[in-house]
Amino acid sequence: MNQPVQIKPASGRLGILLPGFGAVATTTVAGVEAARRGIAEPTGSLTQQNTIRLGKRTDNRAPLIRDFVPLAGLEDIVFGAWDPIPDDGYESALEAGVLDRHHIDQMEDFLRSVKPMPAVFDKEYVRRLDGTNVKTGENKLDLAEQLRADIRRFREEHDCERLVMVWCGSTEIFLRPGAAHETLESFEAAMKADDPTIAPSMIYAYAAIMEGVPYANGAPNLSADIPALEEAARERGVPLAGKDFKTGQTLMKTILAPGLKARMLGIDGWFSTNILGNRDGAVLDDPDSFKTKEESKLSVLEHILQPEMYPKLYGNLYHKVRINYYPPRGDNKEGWDNIDIFGWMGYKMQIKVDFLCRDSILAAPIVLDLALLLDLASRAGQGGIQEWLSFYFKSPQTAPGLYPEHDIFIQQKKLKNTLRWLGGEEPLTHLGLEYYDAE
Ligand SMILES: NC(=O)c1ccc[n+]([C@@H]2O[C@H](COP(=O)([O-])OP(=O)(O)OC[C@H]3O[C@@H](n4cnc5c(N)ncnc54)[C@H](O)[C@@H]3O)[C@@H](O)[C@H]2O)c1
Repeated sequence: MNQPVQIKPASGRLGILLPGFGAVATTTVAGVEAARRGIAEPTGSLTQQNTIRLGKRTDNRAPLIRDFVPLAGLEDIVFGAWDPIPDDGYESALEAGVLDRHHIDQMEDFLRSVKPMPAVFDKEYVRRLDGTNVKTGENKLDLAEQLRADIRRFREEHDCERLVMVWCGSTEIFLRPGAAHETLESFEAAMKADDPTIAPSMIYAYAAIMEGVPYANGAPNLSADIPALEEAARERGVPLAGKDFKTGQTLMKTILAPGLKARMLGIDGWFSTNILGNRDGAVLDDPDSFKTKEESKLSVLEHILQPEMYPKLYGNLYHKVRINYYPPRGDNKEGWDNIDIFGWMGYKMQIKVDFLCRDSILAAPIVLDLALLLDLASRAGQGGIQEWLSFYFKSPQTAPGLYPEHDIFIQQKKLKNTLRWLGGEEPLTHLGLEYYDAE
C-alpha cells in the first residue's frame, strides 16, 4: 500500500448496492434508516461508535473513527439491490423475520422504496431457491453487461458521487478456482462461452470492478477471490474484500481461541453445531452449499492455533462443524460449542458455549462498516485486496501466497493501525510507556 498524500473528501451521495436482498441486507437497510430517524442505535458498528487512540497515552487524543478519517455520513447513503425474489424491502424484511414488526412498520414507506432489480441468478448455483425476478441474456458476458448498465443507471438516477457493492446473496455451491479464473481474458472468454465454473456472484464482482465500484463478499463462495478479478481490481485501483461475514459462532471462536492459546492451554476437540431456520439455513441444507460454508468455518482454528508450532497443544485437535436447518427457529439461531481443553499435567476440562444469537443483527453493522471503509479505501487510492478488513470476515481474502489472519485481536490492531496510517498518524505498537494502553 502507498500512503495517500491526501484522501479525497466524502462529498455527495454514496450508493450501497446489495446483490441479495434477504435477511442481512434488509436488516442493514432498516438499521441505517432507523439510525437516521433516531429510532435505534447502530450498535456493533465501529465506524459509527468506536474511538481510535492517537499518539501517546498522555496526549489524550481518542476521536471517533468517523471524526478521524473522512467517511460518508449515514444521511448521504442510498441503497440499491438485486434479488431473484421480487419482494421490496418491506416485504422482504417481514419475510426474513429478523426485526420486530413495530420497527418494520415505522419505516414502511422507506423500506418499500427499495425494490430489487432483476438478478443474475441460476438455480444451478443455489439449488434451494426459485425466483422470477431474473435477467435473461445471450450468455454470461451479456448478463454482466446488463449489470454494468444497472450500475450506471443507478448512479445517475440517484445522483451518486460514488458506489460500493456488498454481496449479501445466498451461499453458492462449492467451486474451486480453475483455468477460467486465471486472467481477465480467460474469464471474459469463459463468460462468453457460458462456462459452468463462472457463478453469478463472480459476474456481479466483475461488473463492479469494471465499473470502478469497490466490492466486498459477505458469503463464503469464491466470487472475487480468483486471480482474474484480483488482478483486474488491482490494476484499476478498485478495493476488494472478502469472504463470509464473521458473525455468530465463528465470531465466538475467534474471540475464545486466541485467549486459550495466549494461556498455552491445549485443545483436544472443538465441536460446533447450529440450528437455524431462515432462508440461509434452507440454502445451507444443500450439501454443496454447506461444503462452501464448511470450508470457510473450518480453516479458522488451524490458523489461530498454529498446530505446526505447538503440536503438543493443538496437533491432535478434532474440529467438527454442523449446521442443521430447523424452521421453527427462523433467524434466531442457536449455536452450541463443546470445547475439550487440557491444562497443567494434561488434566482435562470442558467449556460449553450456548449462543442464542441473531445472525443478521451481527451481520448488519459489518455490511455498513465494509461499505464505508471500502469507500474510504477507494478515495485514498488503495486498489486490490484490503487485508486490513480481515476483521470482518470468517475467511479473509489475502494476496496470493500469504496466509489469512484469523485472530480477532490481531485483526483489530491491523484495522486500527491502517486507519492511523491512512490518517497520517503513527501506528500503535504498545511498546514502552504505551504497554498497558487500551485500544
Ligand atoms: N447472517 C449472517 O450472519 C451471515 C454471516 C456470514 C455470511 N452470511 C451470508 O450472507 C448471505 C446472506 O445471508 P442472509 O441471511 O441474508 O440470507 P437470505 O437467504 O435471507 O438472503 C439471501 C438473498 O440472496 C438472494 N440471492 C440468491 N442468489 C442471488 C443472486 N444470484 N443475485 C441476487 N440475489 C441472490 C436470495 O433470493 C435471498 O433473498 C448468505 O450467503 C449467508 O451465508 C450471513
